[in-house]
Amino acid sequence: MKIVIAGTGYVGLVTGACLAEVGTEVVCVDVDAAKIARLQNGILPIYEPGLQEIVMRNQESRRLSFTTSMAAALPGAEAVFIAVGTPPGEDGSADLQYVLQVASQIGQLMDQYLVIVTKSTVPVGTAVHVNRAVKEALSARHRILDYDVASNPEFLKEGAAVNDFLKPDRIVVGVNTARARQTLEQLYRPFLLNGHPILFMDIASAEMTKYAANAMLATRISYMNDIANLCGLAGADINQVRKGIGSDPRIGKHFLYPGIGYGGSCFPKDVKALLQTGREYGYQLRILDAVEAINEDQKQLLFRKVLRHFDGDISNKKFAVWGLSFKPNTDDMREAPSLVLIRSLLEAGATVSAYDPVAMKEAAAYLGNSITFADDMYSAAENAAAVLLATEWNTFRMPDWLRLRSLMQSPLLFDGRNIYDDVQLVKLGFTYYGIGKSAASTIDALMR
Ligand code: UDX
Repeated sequence: MKIVIAGTGYVGLVTGACLAEVGTEVVCVDVDAAKIARLQNGILPIYEPGLQEIVMRNQESRRLSFTTSMAAALPGAEAVFIAVGTPPGEDGSADLQYVLQVASQIGQLMDQYLVIVTKSTVPVGTAVHVNRAVKEALSARHRILDYDVASNPEFLKEGAAVNDFLKPDRIVVGVNTARARQTLEQLYRPFLLNGHPILFMDIASAEMTKYAANAMLATRISYMNDIANLCGLAGADINQVRKGIGSDPRIGKHFLYPGIGYGGSCFPKDVKALLQTGREYGYQLRILDAVEAINEDQKQLLFRKVLRHFDGDISNKKFAVWGLSFKPNTDDMREAPSLVLIRSLLEAGATVSAYDPVAMKEAAAYLGNSITFADDMYSAAENAAAVLLATEWNTFRMPDWLRLRSLMQSPLLFDGRNIYDDVQLVKLGFTYYGIGKSAASTIDALMR
């Protein structure tokens, strides 16, 4: 089976590479000629564990190829996946112009039956617009050709994208014809052999599933951040509370980690887009309104703690920020909470030295030379008034505390991801601030 993928961003590239890996012939198309040239030479636009090897291997075996020409890619294909960007517009709604441009281009160039699948996250009802764009392009050519439109949202996580794609919890496919269903069932058969379910449903429901899933996960995070903040005030420890509630299988233990807010390319954008869809239908999604507001506040939390510690004056103090990407194992800086933290520190007159194992180049595109990028976590901390952990990369998990203490102005740590043992740190002479726990349980102290 041959398929075409339009768009070589995160979703497109991972989808293309992984489908080639299980035996499909895949042609990836992108309008960005420089990007395609780099991909042809095995240079990937993103860092994603395992992806490089799969791309190289499948390019060598000619199952995976890259081109800028949709016309050259389409002949012989049974399906085209649209995986181009849907950036947020001014009002938060997903901007569909690139999706519709590709749909229309397919209509201009296709010559055989195709299933035209949206893989990008698109609002409910987009399939209708995609269908119209294809139909209009075909009728401009005076061609009558059979095709189907389908929706197949992607649930992969950055940093674990290859694994998520190859071992999906579920594959969601929205179709409205038996032929489209059959084509996509055949394409995903290698995954079904491993017992992963494919869920066929109507197209609008598939489109909605993606937003509803991401918004639910974002809700869990904001809920936990809210409860964590209350724990901090009331003398409880969110880590204990998290374990206590997560062991109820109805709740489950994943995605209950408080922190300095969710970031990335999906949650912030998808929550906003779903809110906007609600507004378009005259329906206010009240929980999601709160989810978003809590997240905005949470991104300021570490900065507020720092300011409080220094009685409001941090001018000319140096702060070390450990971790920049929105989460570990990715160089993605989109909506990274570290950016909000760093900008607030700079505005308050402080200086910042940051270290991240892979995202410093990306971060420089956002921060320019407003901060120093250090060679490692220790040099970032030299003469620092405090270390602020923004992203829980493994490399930060077990620092040489004595070395760190000797480098810093004073041993002070703000842990934005609750990865450190506060009791151990206090013993070593550090002043420690985490999320959702007050310094040495106040309530216990009151009862002594
Ligand atoms: C997410 C979804 O998980 C994925 O299914 C969808 O396809 C795209 O969006 P991703 O953005 O790659 O994936 O990251 P994810 O691992 O889900 O984390 C999102 C954000 O939530 C990160 O900023 C992370 O730090 C934060 N997070 C996650 C928490 O603050 N606490 C948690 O318990 C989990």
